[in-house]
Amino acid sequence: MKMKQGFLWGGATAANQFEGGWNKDGKGASTSDMMTGGTHTVPRRITPVLEEKTYYPSHEAIDFYGHYKEDIKMFGEMGFKTFRMSIAWSRIFPKGYELEPNEEGLKFYDGVFDELRKNNIEPLVTISHYEMPFGLTEKYNGWASREVIECYVRYCDVIFKRYKDKVKYWLTFNEINCLTIPFGAFMAGGIIADEKNTDQLRFQALHHQFIASAKAVKLGHKINPDLKIGCMIAYMCSYPNTCNPDDILLAQNKDQINNMLCGDVQVRGYYPKFAARYFEENKIKIVMEEGDVEILQEGCVDFYSFSYYMSSVVSSDPSVEEVEGNLLGGAKNPYLKVSDWGWAIDPKGLRWTLNNIYDRYQIPLMVVENGLGAADIVNEDGTVNDDYRIDYLRDHIVQMEEAVKDGVELMGYTMWGCIDLVSASTGEMKKRYGFIYVDKDNDGKGTLARSRKKSFYWYKKVIASNGEKLSNS
Ligand code: BG6
Repeated sequence: MKMKQGFLWGGATAANQFEGGWNKDGKGASTSDMMTGGTHTVPRRITPVLEEKTYYPSHEAIDFYGHYKEDIKMFGEMGFKTFRMSIAWSRIFPKGYELEPNEEGLKFYDGVFDELRKNNIEPLVTISHYEMPFGLTEKYNGWASREVIECYVRYCDVIFKRYKDKVKYWLTFNEINCLTIPFGAFMAGGIIADEKNTDQLRFQALHHQFIASAKAVKLGHKINPDLKIGCMIAYMCSYPNTCNPDDILLAQNKDQINNMLCGDVQVRGYYPKFAARYFEENKIKIVMEEGDVEILQEGCVDFYSFSYYMSSVVSSDPSVEEVEGNLLGGAKNPYLKVSDWGWAIDPKGLRWTLNNIYDRYQIPLMVVENGLGAADIVNEDGTVNDDYRIDYLRDHIVQMEEAVKDGVELMGYTMWGCIDLVSASTGEMKKRYGFIYVDKDNDGKGTLARSRKKSFYWYKKVIASNGEKLSNS
């Protein structure tokens, strides 16, 4: 089927995973700049002080900083209507707590947004995507402290005022609900405190992000009432393992805590009732200041965006074997195949997810991440025949279109990692998502040359037909 006119087809990235130029033109170190490389089996390390001879993948990444004109031209060639990217906060405020921004950093994004406009691509900007100035971690332990709200709002004030006529679509925090799980503490919260990595610390940090997000929405609308500002949730679609009511209740509880809690606060403007019981049973006490309730109510988002890669299975039976997955593991789903990195491939889960979210909120939705991480092979003639990626994306787009037929109001779709970039979870280059191949390996070696994969030409046809031509021929 054809999507409605103006549907925002495109691709998604994040500064810390593709921009590079980590210390150029006044940029400060970000939390992600302190994370070493890793592999599927060797976890990334957080080093509070940079180590000599250690490889930090974000430092150069794929050097969008030096290649942005070339890259945007290729996105334009594919026909992108939108391009999701993030601003590196530490490029604008190197340590995070300065009062004046870094002009050189602001100029860089002027150049990027102008280039996008020249190619008829609407920017979609994430204000904080899995990074913040490392100075804020050192001074405040990241979002664990309320003081960071003021720094974030100052940053938003600067970028909203500077880019108000260049950027219409904004997302306040990438995958904000990642703070509901232990994995998210440093990545989403800039918090270093392993022994204190408790639910209390993370949920309090999440509250600070809710307040910051709500203040940003209100501020953005004041600066330009035409801005559309959304939330971004990593949708953790969890099926019950069996029809045992314990499994059903567990799956419902996961959906509430891991997904709905954040959506409810950001879309409806208040904490859902079920949160109170969860907080009490897990000894979490959210410290609220006077006025917080009103701030949340006044800062509801305009649209709901989310990432979707896979589904998982939850079981109340502790003897059920755990398999890996994105953010959450779970029991094995015998009906689904998995990716090279063990993520269950479940296009129908996307249809379920879209319906589930829309039933609850009835505001426009946008799929801002979906894609397949795979170990691509470059043929002798330089081509990459990534039919498996085309299959994955086509099957998900088919289900997305089914959800639209079901009545879901959908604004757009940005495939994750439209150009190969550093994997957030493993720090690898080998785990590739792109339509565009980048010559660089896990150790940082390579020419950084860009080339078009088979999926590049396929996606171009998908966009040109507005979602109608999905076949791979
Ligand atoms: C999402 C993140 O969770 O998943 C991205 O927003 C990330 O930053 C993406 O890259 C894919 O995960 P990974 O670990 O394969 O890079």
